Amino acid sequence: MNTVSVEILEDLYYMGVNDRDTNLFENMWPLPEGVAYNSYLITDEKTALLDTVKITKVDGFLETLRNNLGERDLDYLVVHHMEPDHSGCFKTIMDIYPNVTVVANKKARAMMNDFFGFEPKNFLEVKDGDTLELGKKTLTFVNTPMVHWPESMVSYETSEKVLFSQDIFGGFGALNGTVFDDEMNFEFFEDEFRRYYSNIVGKYSKQAARALEKVKALDIKVICPVHGVVWRKNPQRIIDEYVKYANQVNEEGVVIAYGTMYGNTEKMADQLARFIAEEGIKNVRVFDVSKTNVSYILSEAWKYKGLILGSCTYNNDVYPTMNQLLYTFEMNKMKNHALGIFGSHGWSGGAIKELTRFASEGGDFQVMPTVVDVKGTMEDNDIESLRQLAKEIAEAVKEA
Ligand code: FEO
Repeated sequence: MNTVSVEILEDLYYMGVNDRDTNLFENMWPLPEGVAYNSYLITDEKTALLDTVKITKVDGFLETLRNNLGERDLDYLVVHHMEPDHSGCFKTIMDIYPNVTVVANKKARAMMNDFFGFEPKNFLEVKDGDTLELGKKTLTFVNTPMVHWPESMVSYETSEKVLFSQDIFGGFGALNGTVFDDEMNFEFFEDEFRRYYSNIVGKYSKQAARALEKVKALDIKVICPVHGVVWRKNPQRIIDEYVKYANQVNEEGVVIAYGTMYGNTEKMADQLARFIAEEGIKNVRVFDVSKTNVSYILSEAWKYKGLILGSCTYNNDVYPTMNQLLYTFEMNKMKNHALGIFGSHGWSGGAIKELTRFASEGGDFQVMPTVVDVKGTMEDNDIESLRQLAKEIAEAVKEA
């Protein structure tokens, strides 16, 4: 059995599964620490299941659901979000509990048909602000479009002040026995939370900031997201982190990402990193884009204010793996960064041209005036130019 079941409050259960089998989230983002899919069960006068889990984990999930329900029927299935990591078990639930009423908004209903080809037999459409009374507990629904999908919504249980936040306030990482925030060391998970946000939600940061404003207006005692832990001791901690992520509030430091074939661009990156360190910047992270997955570079870039991109020229263009990184940055609408560029070429250039285009069109950047483009390998004047670029970026990222 894979599912962990824990009583959060009276008549409210956490029912989560850990997924350490899947290598790539959405078949592209690495999951070395796994991921958790969380579902919640309310057993008030009415019973309600809030979201489900990925279909690959259905067996243990159903066993836990049956144990928690006992002889009772399932009255409601509340659908906050239709991405299959949460909606995968809907059809199975409806087959096993044919009397269940599906509670969702109009967009989610259309998606059920589009994705799974079925219409729920019993359906309750809810709009922003609608409520669902379950007995002592009442859910109020709040739409949070594009965080993470158009149909996404959260619900707020008014009697106990519990927010069921779907993807919002989630993070990567399977839960290692911990279910609540007070049972874990957040520093251990921090990178995986930021990586989840920047990779999965980052593009929709404007909408996320808007959703967070709505959520912040609520008096929240407990946050129950569909990934990561339940926040019962210090929900403000994850709210503050998410407000920072959504507004791309970053800190002093520089990420250097480079693409290199035979080491000339790598040498430039190392020289640059040294000069930046000499300028007093203590957080300098250097990544080879052929080795480190874009997922991690994006996450580190989300953290630090400085970003320097270097590329060798390849077929008169930017290096292909650097191109993938540029695409990822553009897709995620980077802003609030100081940006520097450098590169190398053997005969005709090309990399700098594309990096320059990215600097002007790829995001909201403060672009460093010094651009270093080396033919072959560095000479003394190139080294001095790198020193100048290091001074410029250090000046731009230093916190007062
Ligand atoms: Fe965890 Fe957008 O699904």
